[in-house]
Amino acid sequence: MTSEDPDFFRRLERQQAPHYLWIGCSDSRVPANTIVGLDPGELFVHRNVANLASPQDANYLSVLQFAVDVLKVHHIMVVGHYGCGGVSAAVDGRRRGLVDHWLHPIRELSRTHSQELEALRDEHSRLDRLCELNVMQQVKNVASDVFVLDAWARGQNLSVHGWVYSVGNGLIKDLNVTVSAPRRRSA
Ligand code: CO
Repeated sequence: MTSEDPDFFRRLERQQAPHYLWIGCSDSRVPANTIVGLDPGELFVHRNVANLASPQDANYLSVLQFAVDVLKVHHIMVVGHYGCGGVSAAVDGRRRGLVDHWLHPIRELSRTHSQELEALRDEHSRLDRLCELNVMQQVKNVASDVFVLDAWARGQNLSVHGWVYSVGNGLIKDLNVTVSAPRRRSA
């Protein structure tokens, strides 16, 4: 790294103000910084199997609060990826142990959207769509979290985005579900 960019580590040492929080999958093929082309100091990262933002997960909540309250990130990206082994493991009916509990929210999601999913022509398309639906659900989770709601109430500039990365071609698809303010409660 220093032979390519002699100032890299000196710059990194000074830089501790990332504007972005990445919530992504643990999959080795989806390294956050590489995908978005940002230096390590520019991206705060949380990864777990199938990029879940579960409201009872103390690890995710700690990362979220630190990112929002202390780092004051401007953008949170929930990033899924097509071909996610976690998403397919959630619905293939095989028993694996603890991870079956972890993936429970995705199994529930596939039940909620069973009509839409069953209308798709093959398993591949169904799993791809489930990856997208999962990201959309996690964006809702993040955007309804009290840390995020409190940040908006304070007037903090914060947006939550939902993306899906394609390991096959390196492209990111924006699912256009960005939330930048609290949802208004329907009457
Ligand atoms: Co994955």
